[in-house]
Amino acid sequence: MISDLRATEVSHILLSKFLREGQHVVDATAGNGYDTMFLAKKVGKRGQVYAFDIQAIAIERTKALLEEEKCADAVRLINDTHEKLTEHIKGSVQAIVYNLGYLPGGDKATITKADATLSSIKQALELLDPGGVISIVAYPGHGGGDCEAKKVENFMPELDSALWDVFSYQRLNAVKPAPYLLFLHKRIG
Ligand SMILES: C[S@@+](CC[C@H](N)C(=O)[O-])C[C@H]1O[C@@H](n2cnc3c(N)ncnc32)[C@H](O)[C@@H]1O
Repeated sequence: MISDLRATEVSHILLSKFLREGQHVVDATAGNGYDTMFLAKKVGKRGQVYAFDIQAIAIERTKALLEEEKCADAVRLINDTHEKLTEHIKGSVQAIVYNLGYLPGGDKATITKADATLSSIKQALELLDPGGVISIVAYPGHGGGDCEAKKVENFMPELDSALWDVFSYQRLNAVKPAPYLLFLHKRIG
């Protein structure tokens, strides 16, 4: 049942179409752990989730949530920047999730930054298996988020349309610029 149509919720609905037990996937911005938990439950104990965050407090909160929900087994928590995706992950993966911005209930000055995000996304494009997906939720209404969202969005048309399907989803009649979802699918063959 769909409870609302926020970008984060629609991201999970779309991801659900692609996620399978046993897959290897990435949460590039673990934060409070909700996306990591969602991924861990989808890929199950035979799967592997790599969850990154630069803030130790985010890693601690994610760990606590995973333990509470009894789905910590498949998750490797990495207290490092997602600019180092390919240093930490050697094989290919089937899904990668970005939820940009600041840690809710945390330090609003520590936000994802356009250059780091783009560097990470470029590595994600290479790590992803054909048929895999990348979900990016961007926050143009937050301080600093506007510039980052624009840079990420402006990069999308550079992706070869023979290799990538790129979609966007945003509420257009919101009072202030609403968060939006960019959803990338790597074509097979
Ligand atoms: C909006 S929150 C993520 C929310 C999270 N996905 C959840 O479900 O609760 C964004 C997170 O990105 C993290 N972050 C910022 N820059 C980062 C970077 N370069 N590498 C990894 N994480 C980063 C922040 O510390 C923050 O916790």
